[in-house]
Amino acid sequence: MEPFIKKGNITGESYLIVGLFLLFSGLLFGLTGSLQYIIPGFLKSYLSFEKVRPLHVSSVVFWILSGATGSVFVYLAQHTKREASTGFIKTQFYLFFASVVVILGSYMIGIFGGREYWEFNPVLAVPLMAVCLLFLVHVVKSIRSLRQQPVYVWMWLTGAIFLLFTFIESNLWVFPYFSRNVVNDMTIQWKSYGSMVGAWNMLIYGSSMFLMDKISGSDTSSHSKTAFLLFFTGLFNLMFNWGHHIYTLPTHGYIKHISYAVSMTELFILGRIIYNWSATVNKSKRYFHHLSFRFLLAADVWVFLTLLLAILMSVPGINRYTHGTHITVAHTMGATIGINTFILLAIAADILTSNCRFSVPQRKFINRGFWLTNISLLLFWCSLMVAGILKAKWQMSNHNIPFSSMMLQLKPWFFAFFISGVMLLSGFSLIIFPVLKNIFSCYSKREKNITFHEFSHYSSTKTIPVH
Ligand code: HEM
Repeated sequence: MEPFIKKGNITGESYLIVGLFLLFSGLLFGLTGSLQYIIPGFLKSYLSFEKVRPLHVSSVVFWILSGATGSVFVYLAQHTKREASTGFIKTQFYLFFASVVVILGSYMIGIFGGREYWEFNPVLAVPLMAVCLLFLVHVVKSIRSLRQQPVYVWMWLTGAIFLLFTFIESNLWVFPYFSRNVVNDMTIQWKSYGSMVGAWNMLIYGSSMFLMDKISGSDTSSHSKTAFLLFFTGLFNLMFNWGHHIYTLPTHGYIKHISYAVSMTELFILGRIIYNWSATVNKSKRYFHHLSFRFLLAADVWVFLTLLLAILMSVPGINRYTHGTHITVAHTMGATIGINTFILLAIAADILTSNCRFSVPQRKFINRGFWLTNISLLLFWCSLMVAGILKAKWQMSNHNIPFSSMMLQLKPWFFAFFISGVMLLSGFSLIIFPVLKNIFSCYSKREKNITFHEFSHYSSTKTIPVH
């Protein structure tokens, strides 16, 4: 049998590897943007904030999408014990990464034409739509039947369907029928973004459940009624909880009321996290030495903090203050770093090192990186929250304080944001580079390659080596 992971082959792992490079470039652009907060006009003639922001946001969003699809490719193959069609994965890979390179390149030379978050020319959305479609076809073909499937298979399937649906939706503005009426246009736009995050979360949470099963060596939780109840609550929220994105738009009241009520069902998820906390602490004692588990545990803490903030931001009276402030940025970055990135790193640590263990110095670097990212993320998040609260006070004040005075008041918090950003970049680098170094040295040692036969056996035993 051919080696499953072979030098030069495009596999699910390749998505995670390229994703890690995108994460690193996103961090560098983010840091440049934060420097521009404290030194207005820094690098303005080459890399102005108008370019840096989309370069940062697109790099990190592509890291998330690349990591999420890569992990589904690998874990679906492990679950079904069938090798994925490499031709399929290859086509999608080249289409995806060619689009990413063209998109980031176009930002660099100042070609835009899209909307916030997807600021590239809408023509480039066409290959990305094809990528989403190919991904959905791959997932459907691999699953074959839905009978007796664990909850993560449902999550991958619904995630893939909604990723395609919401991506198309976010580009509907190119048709005058949708963009003619500004309120409808903005409603669809913000709705699609909210739901798209829900869609990639489905893919990532599904993979994290698969990984938890692997770590614990038991699949009872992914077949349990609670898991399916949580899945349906998440799906319901994905479809209907986007109302807090459009509170400021003069659209129909009932849309806002329904989505506010739906947002509150997330309290159930929050309650479950608190309720399960003691069990989590018990598990953490057993598995804390396991790198992937440690990242999953950190993500659990961030799910709690982010959900708490999201629920507060869904209260219309509070949303009036937080809208357009750094509290929104804290919420978005807290979720994409603390939840998405941490879970994807847990998965990358599992997939990319499944047969290549870390050396002692690599382990030390990664341990330090783990603690540094967690501590700095908390500082990073708090500095944005304080800056947001001060801006909200200014927005609501009747004293006509000039914008420049308000920005001066925020400066110490922007400085804290920059310093914690440097720490975050250092912490992530201590994780990303040992993981990449490990996988590349592993690729170059043919004898360490894992065959599909061994791989299927290893997946069926559902035990993994402790790194
Ligand atoms: C894994 C790492 C990161 C992820 C996933 C991430 C994600 C994001 C996202 C999604 C946004 C858009 C926020 C919004 O519009 O609400 C954003 C904005 C931003 N991020 Fe990050 N970020 C990361 C790390 C960093 C770091 C280390 C810095 C540097 C200190 C940084 C600086 C910024 C800046 C300056 C903005 C623009 C905010 C604005 O528009 O005023 N990010 N980031």
